[in-house]
Amino acid sequence: MLFRRTLITTLTIALASFGSISSFAQAWPTKPITLVIPFAAGGPTDVLGRVITASMTKATGYPVIVENKVGAGGTVAAAYVKNAKPDGYTFFLQHNGMATAPALYRKLSFNPLTDFEYVSQVVDVPMTIVARKDFPAGDIKELIAYLKANSTKINLGNAGLGAVSQLCGMMFQKALGVNLTTVPFGGTGPAMNALVGGQIDVMCDQTTNTLGQAEAGTVKLYAVTTSKRIKSLPNTPTLAESGLPNFEVVVWHGVYAPKGTPKEIVNKFNLMLRNALKDPEVIKSLTKLGAISVPDSKLTPAGLQTWLSSEIDRYVPMIRAAGQYAD
Ligand code: MLT
Repeated sequence: MLFRRTLITTLTIALASFGSISSFAQAWPTKPITLVIPFAAGGPTDVLGRVITASMTKATGYPVIVENKVGAGGTVAAAYVKNAKPDGYTFFLQHNGMATAPALYRKLSFNPLTDFEYVSQVVDVPMTIVARKDFPAGDIKELIAYLKANSTKINLGNAGLGAVSQLCGMMFQKALGVNLTTVPFGGTGPAMNALVGGQIDVMCDQTTNTLGQAEAGTVKLYAVTTSKRIKSLPNTPTLAESGLPNFEVVVWHGVYAPKGTPKEIVNKFNLMLRNALKDPEVIKSLTKLGAISVPDSKLTPAGLQTWLSSEIDRYVPMIRAAGQYAD
């Protein structure tokens, strides 16, 4: 008898809470939504986040705001999102760093594969090799020769361990057989300011941060890191065709939510994101920045989850072999 009463009470509570989650999800959103960006304002991840959230805000009438949580190559932000309330008001935009962090950090306070809900991939972004505008090399072959001959004098900027600029810079140095002095920043937004100001010499950075500067002549752009030349830079060689065979780094992006965020809300945010990526203004801005759209199959929670898992399998042995770690 007592067992039956307990069972009925438990079922009633379960049904009531299911009902409340469901109606809660139906009413969502009722207040501003935050998209956490793990790097400094003005850099490539920030720019991508702001272009997309501006369109989401316009379409839904609810502010989707960007919050920059900078530090440790994006891992500070990931830990913050992991511990945020899973109420549908916190999302996280991160790139390849989500897959490289498990290899780079011995003590990681989050597990990219189990601590988040997956929303969607976003866009791919090629990287470029850039240098300060007065750098003494006319093209990529001269740049490579100069770096090999003067490696002890060169400063290479990046956005810290876990940033794609760090990953690309590490692969570039390994391919050249040099050890440059690396200078970490909170994002390649501030690193770009230092490159334009001549305080650092070279950087591997995303087209979303370099195309405008190269066009304005404030930095020199030497090569792209994709396997083929890209549409927005048809006259710029790839590193692969410049004596570094098989060199390829492409930046991919994913949107995550804290584990336990209701599925209905994850799906609604996924739809908001896919609609933003179809917005003509977003397409125009992202194309101008060199971003590349991804197939619809990647714009799903499963598409991101499968991709992240395969990227962890790809990067972890590569990074461990290069012997790069932080505690
Ligand atoms: C940024 O937004 O600053 C970059 O994505 C940093 C990087 O990963 O290189």
